[in-house]
Amino acid sequence: MKKMDLHHIRKDYTAGSLDEQSIPGSPFELFSQWINQAINHSEIIEPTAMILSTVAIDGSPSSRVVLLKEVSDNGFTFFTNYQSRKGKEISVHNKVSLLFFWPEMQRQIRIEGQAFKLEENFNHEYFNSRPVESQIAAIISKQSEKANSKIEIMESYNDFSEKDQTPVKPAHWGGFRVIPAYFEFWQGGSHRLHDRITYQQDSGIWTIGRLWP
Ligand SMILES: Cc1cc2nc3c(=O)[nH]c(=O)nc-3n(C[C@H](O)[C@H](O)[C@H](O)COP(=O)(O)O)c2cc1C
Repeated sequence: MKKMDLHHIRKDYTAGSLDEQSIPGSPFELFSQWINQAINHSEIIEPTAMILSTVAIDGSPSSRVVLLKEVSDNGFTFFTNYQSRKGKEISVHNKVSLLFFWPEMQRQIRIEGQAFKLEENFNHEYFNSRPVESQIAAIISKQSEKANSKIEIMESYNDFSEKDQTPVKPAHWGGFRVIPAYFEFWQGGSHRLHDRITYQQDSGIWTIGRLWP
């Protein structure tokens, strides 16, 4: 690849600010305000997309995008294949991080916590609500395993579709709920003096702090 000089790409942030006096005591409340603003923002096409990072047994980190499907004070839920790379990594080491980046609002949220498998009744409920094509894809996909070709994947999909059978949630597919212990809300500021507000949980109490930009 030819060397690219990207030094001139530089943006000043002026969209807003965060101060300790006007934020809620609960990070879930602030998250709810921010994600609602992202959902209602006309330029944000995937407001619920978040970057999930996991750690392998040898300490190697890996990241990928997943979609947030439910959020409450009980945690952040996404769905996946339990036998995928992320699924296997979480089963060994369940500390994960989630990251939301909404550049159009000059905002980032970092969340750290532990992931737990969702109860099977919730998995069935969500699986059954999905379009049939997504259900079939979830059944036939050996997510993260090596495939021989795109043809192999499409044949597997078509074989299932032609059988005309009702898709049933496979045991390897379901959700994880991430229960956070730490949040950082980042709002871009002018002159690179960004606001970074943290919420750290200790014995059920959330303590608010501020980090240098
Ligand atoms: C916008 C977007 C949304 C995605 N949503 C999901 C999701 O909800 N669940 C999922 O398993 N993979 C999702 N993916 C695919 C993952 O990023 C990833 O490729 C896949 O889960 C395999 O990851 P792994 O090999 O690290 O387990 C999404 C990708 C993108 C770009």
